[in-house]
Amino acid sequence: MTSIPLAGVIGHPVGHSRSPQLHGHWLREYAITGHYVPLAVTPGDLGDALHLLPRIGFRGVNVTVPHKEAVLGLAQEVTDRAARIGAANTLTFTESGIHADNTDGVGFLRSLTEGAPDWTASAGPALILGAGGAARAILTALIDAGVPEIRLTNRTRPRAEALARSLGGPVQVIDWPDRVEAARGTALLVNTTVLGMSGQAALDFPVGALDPSMTVTDIVYTPLETPLLRGAAARGCTTVDGLGMLLHQAAPGFERWFGRAPKVTPALRSAVLAS
Ligand code: ATR
Repeated sequence: MTSIPLAGVIGHPVGHSRSPQLHGHWLREYAITGHYVPLAVTPGDLGDALHLLPRIGFRGVNVTVPHKEAVLGLAQEVTDRAARIGAANTLTFTESGIHADNTDGVGFLRSLTEGAPDWTASAGPALILGAGGAARAILTALIDAGVPEIRLTNRTRPRAEALARSLGGPVQVIDWPDRVEAARGTALLVNTTVLGMSGQAALDFPVGALDPSMTVTDIVYTPLETPLLRGAAARGCTTVDGLGMLLHQAAPGFERWFGRAPKVTPALRSAVLAS
């Protein structure tokens, strides 16, 4: 008898994670007998949890704060992109141990090309706001896609400099106060900061500085339409909201654990938004 496949998300806290609703939707949609559960794991229990989970039927787990970096040191196999990003979000338990991958960058790119089909890597420079973990994954993906020039700006400039240094590629650091001017001539603007999220300050970025030919995307998805995206859409820019990245980053893990490549559909978006 084969066991019922299990997967989950490990984090601390983990109650805010949308992953159980997301994977639960796919499990129901494809009538797969399996379960996906939130697993509250403290940093002190991380090693024990990862040792035990495969022994009790787990095929793998997603990883969220604060474990995304620490799991790399516990994995037997780390994909090149996870190593470069310096963090993993998708673990698969295999015969040879823990396989650690990072699908955030590829999730971002899939969401971008789905929401802005006319955008191509060669369309022109990109401007990235923010230099946290999400920016790291997005920059890696944009460098790999072949974006010719990436302008990176962050409130705390040394953090942007460290990121640019560690990733290499055509990344140029811009002072935060110069961010609006830096949008000139770009084809893509990405907000990876928390600004514009419900409960946070708004992003100070006059949309008059955006050219209508630009694609503008925000990784914030609460609200779905941030003030930046609303303004950019009114300017005539193509906009892509942050929910798509969350949905697309989940697909590779689901396929590995449950054996079916899932689709990101409007029904999935509604289910996750309603949760
Ligand atoms: P994540 O890993 O999700 O990207 P993070 O590492 O906390 O999260 O990064 C949040 C980003 O939002 C950072 O770029 C942060 O800038 P700092 O590096 O200067 O902290 C940015 N951010 C947060 N609050 C901000 C604010 N009030 N103004 C400008 N940027 C802000």
